[in-house]
Amino acid sequence: MLTSLSASSWLLGFAGFLLALGLDLRRRRVGSSDLLRLGILSFLDLLAPAATFGCALALCAQMWPAAMREGVLHVRTVAFPGALACLIAGPLLWTEGRKQMQFQRPTGLIFGEWLFFAGAVLTSITTALDFDRAARLWSLAPVVAGLALIAVIVPPFVKKFEGLTILEAIGEKEQFSQPEYTPPTQECPQPQLWKMLDAQSTEVEVLDFLKALVVAMKPRLIVETGTFLGHGTLKLAEGLRHNGFGRVITIELDPAIRARALERFKASGLSGWIESRLESSLDAKIDGTIDLLFSDSHLPNREAEVRRLLPHIDPRGLVLIHDASSHFHIVREAVLRLEAEGLISSVLMSTPRGLAIAQRREGRR
Ligand SMILES: C[S@@+](CC[C@H](N)C(=O)[O-])C[C@H]1O[C@@H](n2cnc3c(N)ncnc32)[C@H](O)[C@@H]1O
Repeated sequence: MLTSLSASSWLLGFAGFLLALGLDLRRRRVGSSDLLRLGILSFLDLLAPAATFGCALALCAQMWPAAMREGVLHVRTVAFPGALACLIAGPLLWTEGRKQMQFQRPTGLIFGEWLFFAGAVLTSITTALDFDRAARLWSLAPVVAGLALIAVIVPPFVKKFEGLTILEAIGEKEQFSQPEYTPPTQECPQPQLWKMLDAQSTEVEVLDFLKALVVAMKPRLIVETGTFLGHGTLKLAEGLRHNGFGRVITIELDPAIRARALERFKASGLSGWIESRLESSLDAKIDGTIDLLFSDSHLPNREAEVRRLLPHIDPRGLVLIHDASSHFHIVREAVLRLEAEGLISSVLMSTPRGLAIAQRREGRR
């Protein structure tokens, strides 16, 4: 099919390939110096959508002169279904790339999907156009290869905790902000207006809000459950540094994740404001009165940890419960239950993942 392309179709296809590749590198913040450090599967993940866009352009360019001259499209050719398939697959693969960035989906997945799709299209074309048996069998090879690749990379990814996948994906690179990943909800219909660093770290705007709250409230003791990469801790600590007093105790269950957060704390120069603990929020013992609790650990644990820490919280202080949007039923329902029991009074802030700002009822005047 490709050998019968005219020189101008080849040229246009190559230009389309380069353009799509350039745009993909840009949105992934991959510079020319990073290119050499990319693994083979990462490289193939970049080539797959670019090649599809290139093929779409080349095949359209190939059909264009005859279509213009004769005023008809020759449907029973290789070029027509090929171009159609590429025009459908190109945007799909592009979206898959976005999801790969947002959800840290496994490297090689886009290439695997591309192989499968390309093979399926080739098989359909060779069958529909009565190619010989050998050609039909060969066109099945990419389907098998794509399925095999997906079968190898997807199961370990599904089994792994998302936080560790993010940890691996970001490697030594600094993170960058991208549009928020959670789907729209009734209370937050345009989540894409917010920014996120990854699917576990608090939304960028909410991080800024945490700092502003610390500056406004002047808490002496802050407790954060679920450190993850430490983005929330650092914003809370920035607020403390601004105030000139206080400390934040941050609690993380996973040793590898905590080690990464500790590196970040050290590099930030804010370690002096932070007490990092490796334990479960459900076992943590806190001495002193908590002025600000930021509950942000495992979703199903939030209710138990808030109930556990509530007696230690100053009634003039605040309880922030992250992920209280209707997308995360489990947390929202827990907040509503705690409120219905008269334990807290809460405001449900309509951010993409939701933030309940609550206060302990007992002792409040
Ligand atoms: C949503 S992330 C925290 C995000 C972080 N607070 C921020 O602002 O970027 C949740 C973290 O809680 C940790 N975690 C899960 N269960 C926990 C528990 N029982 N105690 C403490 N941390 C826990 C997970 O390992 C993960 O790193």
